[in-house]
Amino acid sequence: MAKPKVVYICRACGTDHPKWQGQCKNCGEWNTLQEEIIPGNKKQLRWDKSSEAKPKAQKIVDIPTNRESRLATSDSEFNRVLGGGLVPGSVTLIGGQPGIGKSTLLLQLALNLGRTVLYVSGEESPAQIKMRANRLGKELGEYCYLLAATETEKIIEAAKDLDPDWLIIDSVQTLRSMQVDSGQGSITQIRECTAMLTDFVKARQLPMMLIGHITKEGVIAGPKLLEHMVDCVLQFEGDRRHAYRLLRSIKNRFGSTDELGIYEMQSSGLHAVENPSMMLMESHSSQLSGSAISATIEGMRPMMVEVQSLVSTAVYGTPQRSTTGFDLNRLHMLLAVLEKRAGYFFNQKDVFLNIAGGFRISDPSIDLAVIAAMVSSFEDEPWPSDVTFAGEVGLSGEVRPVARPELRLIEADRMGFTRIYLPAQNVRGLNVKDQKIEVVPLERIDSFIERLTT
Ligand code: TYD
Ligand code: MG
Repeated sequence: MAKPKVVYICRACGTDHPKWQGQCKNCGEWNTLQEEIIPGNKKQLRWDKSSEAKPKAQKIVDIPTNRESRLATSDSEFNRVLGGGLVPGSVTLIGGQPGIGKSTLLLQLALNLGRTVLYVSGEESPAQIKMRANRLGKELGEYCYLLAATETEKIIEAAKDLDPDWLIIDSVQTLRSMQVDSGQGSITQIRECTAMLTDFVKARQLPMMLIGHITKEGVIAGPKLLEHMVDCVLQFEGDRRHAYRLLRSIKNRFGSTDELGIYEMQSSGLHAVENPSMMLMESHSSQLSGSAISATIEGMRPMMVEVQSLVSTAVYGTPQRSTTGFDLNRLHMLLAVLEKRAGYFFNQKDVFLNIAGGFRISDPSIDLAVIAAMVSSFEDEPWPSDVTFAGEVGLSGEVRPVARPELRLIEADRMGFTRIYLPAQNVRGLNVKDQKIEVVPLERIDSFIERLTT
């Protein structure tokens, strides 16, 4: 029998290396290699000519459609992100940083489903989970079953016995199987155990939810391969110091990835946020310099988000630039554009930028508000509290069109704003009549900066 072999597999892309090295030769990531043991007596995979039971291809028209058999949960935000509810036999992976509230969200859903749910935890004891359930203030129904286990075979046995309508695994990183030689939490363990569970739930048409931790860099710990194996990947994000949480869909085989769920963590669990615009600009009523409101769209939802900036004289030689919730490279680019196209020199200035609420905004239309906030702080001149901005800014200082300008304008009007700065190209094609809000078309950034300073 051949000896077991040690290889080093990259956590990010799954490439194996014969020796440990700092950087993956395939994807270029640093510090992602992890030791794995490959058993020596691995079976050779070969096409078996003698196989009698031949699989038969089917015509696409003959395949029955099992549409609309989705199982809706009691949480409308969650249903929306999934595209309408749990699809039978689907496997969903939900990732998020430790302590963000993944276990809370799923326990809450499990308690309210009204159908048999098996909640498997490899991290907490049933007593601990019960304590959390009590804290949620929900009536503990008959339907939620808890199991503290990490061994995949045992989990499958328990699921066979109980025959639940939903299976929740908290978390994939704790899964292990005696049939796999590598240690718990290794890439091979996670991959093989997930594959085993996936086969089981697909055969039974049982929806399954996997909780996964994410690393500091924001990727789900374990190989990227896991994301390819599952049907949906959700991400639960937010800042632990703030109460708000976003549930985003990154991959969805049964729906769109444009949907977004917004929650607030309270002492009695997670609650859906109905009016997201209100939450991101609470402090805005007082007029302060360095603040600007952006009319953004995350997923399909318009929200008014406050951008705060502080520009001050640099005390040390090299000026500091620091951001929370915004890409630092993008900030450098916008500062360069301001310098070159509008004559603002930041080389002796520290610049701090902050998106209220602790969110990361992915909509590029926030550029204009970032510029507005920085110029306002530079000049120490506040914008009126009822103006808002939306526009992407290009390298030559041009304001580029944004997606769905109507939606932004309607939301701004509904929230009581009286003026919105929009890219001129968007304004030309705009088709809204009933709104009172004044629309100011912008071609370039310099023209609107004048409006602040004059
Ligand atoms: P948890 O769901 O355990 O996070 P994860 O599974 O993602 O690691 O809980 C996260 C935090 O939420 C925890 O620090 C306590 C807090 N929390 C509340 O604020 N209110 C609540 O009702 C509950 C259950 C938890
Ligand atoms: Mg947890």
